[in-house]
Amino acid sequence: MIRLLYFSQSRDVISDKQVQNIMESSRRHNPALGITGVLVHGGGMFMQVLEGPEQTTLRTYVKILDDQRHSNCQIVYITPTDKRIFEGWSMGVIARRDVLEFEQIMELREQRRKEVIEPKVFTNAMRGFLKILNDGHR
Ligand SMILES: Cc1cc2nc3c(=O)[nH]c(=O)nc-3n(C[C@H](O)[C@H](O)[C@H](O)COP(=O)(O)O)c2cc1C
Repeated sequence: MIRLLYFSQSRDVISDKQVQNIMESSRRHNPALGITGVLVHGGGMFMQVLEGPEQTTLRTYVKILDDQRHSNCQIVYITPTDKRIFEGWSMGVIARRDVLEFEQIMELREQRRKEVIEPKVFTNAMRGFLKILNDGHR
């Protein structure tokens, strides 16, 4: 299995309806492919974590790359793994307005500039997202 994280710019201001459509597609496709993850959006950007079998996860990423609702996709973290973080989430969604402190994202973006994300920073951020998801968005 692999886990990958990318950032992208959302096209214009993305509406709730558009995000809902993305969610519906994810819930339709991801479970059968064994893909789990989280999608964070707000402030003109998306951040998504995809985890699952290597080939299917990469294929899904390539499909997402072509989506006109965003651009400038950049993978900032990719790692082999045998454990899921987002077990049970075919694609959890977090809107920026749901997150009181957006520090974790900012920290990840900051690290991206240095071209390496420390695994500890990554793991902490992901734990934070999982907590937000499990605390009330299920
Ligand atoms: C930021 C972003 C994240 C997406 N994530 C997924 C995803 O995890 N799984 C998926 O199947 N489609 C995802 N999509 C949608 C795909 O690009 C594509 O539109 C969709 O899978 C097409 O399937 P459908 O015609 O059945 O809706 C995402 C799109 C965007 C813009």
